Amino acid sequence: MQSGQQDLTSKPNDNRYNNTSVSLHWLMAVVVFGLFALGFWMVDLTYYSSWYKTAPYWHKSVGIILAMLLISRLFWRFKAGKPAPIASHSATTIKMATAVHFLLYLMLLAIVLTGYLISTADGRGIDVFSWFEVPGLGELFSGQADIAGALHKWFAYGLMGLVALHALGAIKHHVIDKDATLKRMWWSKNQENSKENP
Ligand code: HEM
Repeated sequence: MQSGQQDLTSKPNDNRYNNTSVSLHWLMAVVVFGLFALGFWMVDLTYYSSWYKTAPYWHKSVGIILAMLLISRLFWRFKAGKPAPIASHSATTIKMATAVHFLLYLMLLAIVLTGYLISTADGRGIDVFSWFEVPGLGELFSGQADIAGALHKWFAYGLMGLVALHALGAIKHHVIDKDATLKRMWWSKNQENSKENP
């Protein structure tokens, strides 16, 4: 195992993501795809649509849930580390995967931050499903809503492009290389005795 990397299951030979990491990964993937689809659809709604106010309300509420999931995931990632790279992967593959993972986290952060800046530019907070409100900081710089809005859109497209690359890479490892890349990002009933180690 390389320095700075821990085994998530505290068993040295159990080289897979643990169930908490797997759950956070796939839950966030579903939420991100849902938010992208909702955002893409809602920007074309007219004032006369019954979804005109409801769709942005859902988009913002779920966006705050995504931000909370992201913070939890980053905490968990720093606490638990990640499994060592698969032995058959070249140094270039490992570097590329690390760079893509880093960019995925960075884009997610940028998207939730710009979403917050759009929603709070008018001074109002964000009401999350009427459960609680995230306070707004108001307009922090001039043209905030427009600038953050443009960045939010392009980061969202960028994220989708990066996710496509990421998913194709994972599928290629599974189907062509037939290695454990995808399997170790799936739930394991018995983590203690997992033999997914490449
Ligand atoms: C919005 C969608 C997605 C996002 C934001 C995302 C993000 C990430 C991130 C940040 C990691 C790195 C985990 C870490 O070590 O901290 C990761 C790992 C992984 N993801 Fe995704 N992912 C998405 C969708 C997918 C899809 C659709 C697939 C498969 C078809 C996939 C397969 C994997 C696999 C196999 C790993 C583990 C890679 C390894 O062991 O090095 N992901 N994902």
